[in-house]
Amino acid sequence: MANEATLVIVKPDGLKKSLTGNILTRLAEAKLKIIAAKVIAVDRKLADKHYQHLKNEPFYPELSQYITGELHGENRVMALVYSGEEAITKVRKIAGATNPEEADPVSIRGAYGRILTVGLFENVIHASSDVGEAEREIKLWFEPSDIVCELYPCQKKTFDNFEKTVWK
Ligand code: PPS
Repeated sequence: MANEATLVIVKPDGLKKSLTGNILTRLAEAKLKIIAAKVIAVDRKLADKHYQHLKNEPFYPELSQYITGELHGENRVMALVYSGEEAITKVRKIAGATNPEEADPVSIRGAYGRILTVGLFENVIHASSDVGEAEREIKLWFEPSDIVCELYPCQKKTFDNFEKTVWK
């Protein structure tokens, strides 16, 4: 079985509804390791990079407003990296289908998600879809020093006389 890392984002509705504890408890069923976590405010630039493959979708403006918190008046999200055997599949199973109406009712999205009248999936969490996307997303949301182990190759770079470790 493959050792994998995956990005989970508890979206603004999850924080606004105080669902973080429930969500982390549900994800603990996967018996994976949390190797990074932070609460951050998502700006448009990060949203555009994260959802780069969706920028031409009709729902993109609302999706961007959702992740940046404009939709809920709550700009916090919680980003976590889980690692362990088959982490991507295990987390996606507990998260449930992307469309909350198709998700298993006992999954996170099935229990707490909904579809807005404009057609947007308000599905509470994001979970990486495959190994390549997980690596791209983790490198976008986290710096090497945010993660307790060297997950991907790094290099040292000097900025204004300060040496910093960055992703290679
Ligand atoms: S998936 O399931 O993550 O692999 O799907 P993907 O196509 O890569 O991502 C789709 C993201 O857009 C969000 N979204 C919608 N998708 C389809 N249709 C509608 N109406 C829609 N509204 C929002 C969807 O929730 C995925 O984002 P995340 O953050 O992964 O949930």
